[in-house]
Amino acid sequence: MSILDVKVIQDYIRMCNDGWLQGWHERNGGNLTYRMKPEEVEECRPYFQKPGPWIDMGVSGINLAGEYFITTGSGKFFRNVILDPEHSIGIVEINDRADSWRIVWGLEGNAKPTSEFPSHFMNHSVRSKVTNGKCRVIYHAHPPNLIAMTYILPLSAREFTRALWKSATECPVVFPDGVGVVPWMVPGGTEIARATSQVMEKYDVAVWAHHGLFCSGPDFDTTFGLMHTVEKSAQIYNLVMSSGQG
Ligand code: 13P
Ligand code: ZN
Repeated sequence: MSILDVKVIQDYIRMCNDGWLQGWHERNGGNLTYRMKPEEVEECRPYFQKPGPWIDMGVSGINLAGEYFITTGSGKFFRNVILDPEHSIGIVEINDRADSWRIVWGLEGNAKPTSEFPSHFMNHSVRSKVTNGKCRVIYHAHPPNLIAMTYILPLSAREFTRALWKSATECPVVFPDGVGVVPWMVPGGTEIARATSQVMEKYDVAVWAHHGLFCSGPDFDTTFGLMHTVEKSAQIYNLVMSSGQG
């Protein structure tokens, strides 16, 4: 047995690879975090290493004190996750004040959690609160059709929600609350983390203008399916507009 035989780790790796196969993760683009269930933490604990030092995140979310997250590493390539999980992903523990993390498994070779960990963490905090603890997955990808739309449409939740809902029939069912929009901001910091988590109070999808998309959900299938549905709808929108039939 190894930690790579634990189901939640296998499911996490599969989702990373599925995103790579979709073409949403050029180079180190995108990141994925999962808030582990207590029983999953116990399944993985026998494989934990000596914990690393506590690292301040610059944000906090007290409802996440003591939680454990699986995370992709900063600068790591999704296409390598399936080949080399120990260097590409890891598990971090959150401290009692819910303002710092430490590595308990993986991220070998001095790797760190994704540079978007503050955004993921604040999104987890908000989505966990508004879903009564159901939300476990935050997924950031660079799907090209959705990004292209951010150069065409006014950057508002109303415009994006209406365009996506109208482009594919199942969209109002898959994301009935619509999608929120965050204007272009410098990625990888606490400012964009706060702005995104404000949007996530209302929506489970947040567009990052000229950059990508954040999706949240209760499990890997639902969250991956949400990303896939939004991007497919954006593709249909772009195909129709570029055929001059919009
Ligand atoms: P990381 O490699 O730090 O996860 O950053 C990738 C990215 O998509 C930044 O928004
Ligand atoms: Zn990104």
